[in-house]
Formats: sequence, C-alpha cells, structure tokens
Amino acid sequence: MTRAPARQLVQLGPDDLADRLTEALHVYVSAMGYPSSTARHRRTLWLEHVQRPGWRAVGWLDASDTLLGIAYGYSGGPGQWWYEEVRRGLAPAGPAAQSWLQDYFELTELHVHPDAQGHGLGESLLRALLNGVPSARVLLSTPEYGVDTPGRAWRLYRRAGFQDVLRQHRFTGDSRPFAVLGRHLPMDPPPPRT
Ligand SMILES: CC(C)(COP(=O)(O)OP(=O)(O)OC[C@H]1O[C@@H](n2cnc3c(N)ncnc32)[C@H](O)[C@@H]1OP(=O)(O)O)[C@@H](O)C(=O)NCCC(=O)NCCS
Repeated sequence: MTRAPARQLVQLGPDDLADRLTEALHVYVSAMGYPSSTARHRRTLWLEHVQRPGWRAVGWLDASDTLLGIAYGYSGGPGQWWYEEVRRGLAPAGPAAQSWLQDYFELTELHVHPDAQGHGLGESLLRALLNGVPSARVLLSTPEYGVDTPGRAWRLYRRAGFQDVLRQHRFTGDSRPFAVLGRHLPMDPPPPRT
C-alpha cells in the first residue's frame, strides 16, 4: 500500500508566490480574520515585495498541494515605509534602541490557515524562513494584545526568543497599537519532522 504524501515545508521563489498568490492571500485573510476584500488590496503590495533585496518565502503544502501556511520577508532599510515608521517610533529612545535598524531582515508575513493552526507549522515556517538569512537581526511588527491574554503569535515569538524593540507603536494609517519585536540571528532551523 502506498502512503499519501505528507505535508511538505517548501521554499517558494518569486514565480511560486505569483502562481499561488490567490491561495496565499486566502491563508492571510483567513488567519487574520480580515474580510476577503483585503486580499485584493494586498495583491500589488505582495508582488512588489518580491522584488526587494533579500526577499525569501517558505510555505507548508498539504498532501493535495494546497497551501496551509506562508511566511516571507526581505532585507529592511532606509526608504522603505516600514523602516521609516519604526525609525520614527524609535527616535526618542536613543542610539542603542535605534541600532536594531542596522542590518535587519523584516519578517513581513507569517500566517497559518486556522484549520491547520496549533500543530507547530507556524514555528517551523519561522525557523525555515530565517535559516541562512545573512542579516544580523530580524524584526517584525504584530498587533498588541491589550487586555486579552497574549495569543498564539505572541507565544510563538516569545518562545522563539523575540524581545521588545518598541511597544504601543502607531503606524501611520492604522489606529491599532503594534509591538515591534526583534531577535539576533542566526536562529536554529526547524527540527526534521517524522
Ligand atoms: C501565529 C501563527 C502563524 C502561529 O502558527 P501555528 O502553527 O498556529 O502556531 P505554532 O507553530 O506556534 O504552533 C504551536 C502550538 O502548537 C502546539 N504544537 C502541537 N504540536 C506541535 C509540534 N509538533 N511542534 C511545535 N508545536 C506544536 C504547541 O504547543 C503550540 O501551542 P500554543 O500556541 O498554545 O503555544 C498562526 O497562529 C496564525 O497564522 N495566526 C493568525 C495570524 C497571525 O497572528 N500572524 C502573525 C501576525 S504578526
């Protein structure tokens, strides 16, 4: 009897992401609980990100080649919207805090479809994405959890050694408070799954 192929953690190149963009954005809006119209607005941005220096992406595929999770990022630097927003937030904190913005990789997106969450797929995406990144550090932003208990994303980031870089930050055009978290690289790759 032949066994069905198991889930696979794969590297995604620019063409792979372009081919799977609808699927990837479906994972994103489902994971974040956003309306499906958000996916339309993100298409151009995600395709533009593919062109950035150091861009890389990984995904989890199920046995029928359906995307269950996606993570991507690129080298951050001056002139990028996110860099400038974080620089503004860090300005009052002084040079030590601002040094987080030297030689960093921006973890831009990390999402696992809700049906597949809670089995370690997100952590393995995170580790696989960062494995071999040549930058000195990695930064990300994530919504603050407010009065709720920290959710799964926060638990994952803390478990993976991310520390506070900036808290309660307001990005231009978004009324929600965000945290910017970071850690030094390298980071261990995901253990092989049996
Ligand atoms: C954040 C997110 C990517 C994490 O992915 P995930 O696959 O659900 O989570 P993890 O890889 O951390 O799964 C680990 C959980 O599964 C459990 N688990 C079960 N089997 C496991 C295994 N073999 N290996 C590791 N963890 C395992 C862990 O105990 C852990 O439980 P916890 O969340 O209660 O701490 C995902 O939940 C998500 O997409 N959330 C919504 C979108 C979002 O917030 N994205 C980040 C925006 S910045």
